[in-house]
Amino acid sequence: MANSKKSMHGAWSSRFTFILAATGSAVGLGNIWKFPYIVGENGGGAFVVVYLLCVVAIGIPIMMAETMLGRRGGQCPINTIKSLAKEAGAHENWKYLGWMGTIAGFLILSYYSVIAGWSLSYVLKAFTGSFSGESAAQINTLFVELKASQGEQIFWHTVFIGATMSVVAKGVEGGIEKAVRFLMPGLFVLLFLLVAYAMTTGYYTEGLKFLFQPDFSELTASSVLTAMGHAFFTLSLGMGAIMVYGSYLPKDISIAKTVFWIAGADTAVALLAGMAIFPIVFSNGLEASAGEGLIFQILPIAFGNMTGGWLFGVLFFVLLVFAALSSAISLIEPAVAWYIEKFKVARTQACITMGGVVWLMGLGTVFSFNSWADVTFFGLTFFGFLDFLTANLMLPLGGFLIAIFAGRVMHSHHAKEELDLKTDQHFEVWMFLVKYIAPAAVFLVFLGVLGVFG
Ligand code: TRP
Repeated sequence: MANSKKSMHGAWSSRFTFILAATGSAVGLGNIWKFPYIVGENGGGAFVVVYLLCVVAIGIPIMMAETMLGRRGGQCPINTIKSLAKEAGAHENWKYLGWMGTIAGFLILSYYSVIAGWSLSYVLKAFTGSFSGESAAQINTLFVELKASQGEQIFWHTVFIGATMSVVAKGVEGGIEKAVRFLMPGLFVLLFLLVAYAMTTGYYTEGLKFLFQPDFSELTASSVLTAMGHAFFTLSLGMGAIMVYGSYLPKDISIAKTVFWIAGADTAVALLAGMAIFPIVFSNGLEASAGEGLIFQILPIAFGNMTGGWLFGVLFFVLLVFAALSSAISLIEPAVAWYIEKFKVARTQACITMGGVVWLMGLGTVFSFNSWADVTFFGLTFFGFLDFLTANLMLPLGGFLIAIFAGRVMHSHHAKEELDLKTDQHFEVWMFLVKYIAPAAVFLVFLGVLGVFG
C-alpha cells in the first residue's frame, strides 16, 4: 500500500471496531427521531422508496468514497482533502470542501444536542413513572411543556454537550470505541420489542401500509430533496465524519464489505422505528405529520400502557441517548481533529473550546421552540432553518463534491488501490456510481427544487 502511516489521532483496533464506530455514527436520532417524523410529514411510502433508492445509489458509493479518502489522507477532513488534492495535482481550493463539512458537523451538533437533551429528559420522565397509565393527551402535554421550558432544555443540552465532549476528549481508542460496543445490540432488541407491541394495537397493517405502500402522487420536489438529504444525514455522509473515521481504519480492511454492513444496519433501525411508531400513531387517532415531537408524543403511550413498560421506557430512552452520543462524537470529531492539527493543543483543550461554541449555538434551537417561535429565517424557525441548511443543502452538496473528487479528481489507480475491491468489475460499478449517478442525482434534485422542471 502506498501510504502506511497511522493517523496522529490513533487507529481502530480492528475492522469490527470501525464497523461499530461508523454504525454508531450512522445510527442515531436520525433513524429513530427524524426518519419517522419526516416520513409522516412527507406522506409515507413514496418518500420511503425515494430514501431507499438514495441510500443504495448515492449513499453507499459515497460512503465508500469517504472512507477511502479518509484512509488515504490520514488526517482531519480539511487536511486530508488538501493533501489528496496536492497528490492529484488539483487546485488547493478543494480544501474548502473539508471546511464546509467541518462547519456542517458543527451546526448539526448544535441542534442535535438539544434533541438529544429531550431524550435525556425523557429518561428521567420514564424513570419517575410519568407515562404510566397516561392518555395520549396527557403525554402530549408533557412534550408541550418541555418545549416551552428554556431552563429544562438548556439544562439537558448542557449535560449532553458535556458528555459528548468528554468522550471526544478521551480520543479514538479510549472514548469512542468503548462507548459504542454494547449499544447497537441493545437498541435492536428494544426496537423489536416495540414492533411487537405495535402488532397488538390492531393498527399494525395500517402502519405498515403507510410506511411501505407508495403513493407517488404524494411526492413533491421538496420531499424528494428531504429524502435525499436524509439519506446523507442518516449515513453521516457529506461532511467528513466517515472520512475522519476512515482515517483511523487500518490498511488491510475491505472498505466495501464494511460499508454494506453499516448501511444495512442503519436502514434496518430506521425501518424498525417506523414499524413501531406508525401503528401506535394510528391506533390513538393521532396525526403522522405531527412534526419533530412525533416519537416523544407517541412512544411513551406504548410504554405507559404495556406490561413492563416502565423498564422498557427507561431502557429505550437510555439507548436513544447513547445512540445520539455515538453520533454526536462523529459530528464534532472533524472540528476537534482540525483544531488539534492547527493549533497543536491538547485534545482536552480543543474539546473545551469547540464544545463551548456548539453549546452557545444550541441555545438558538432551544429558543426557536419558545421565545423565538415566531422569528423566521426564509420562512423557517431557527431550528428548521439550521436543519434545512445542513441536511438538505450542505450535506448533499458536500456529497456531490466528494463524489466528484473521488471519481474525477483523484487518480483512479489511487482510488482503486485504496478500495482494493474483489474484481475490476466491482471497481467499475463503483466508479460509474460516483462519477455519474451520484453527482447527477444530487444535481437533478437541486434543479427540481429550484422549479426548473416546472
Ligand atoms: N447519522 C446520524 C443520525 O442519523 C447523525 C450524524 C452523525 C451525522 N454524524 C453525522 C449526520 C455526520 C451528518 C453528517 O442520527
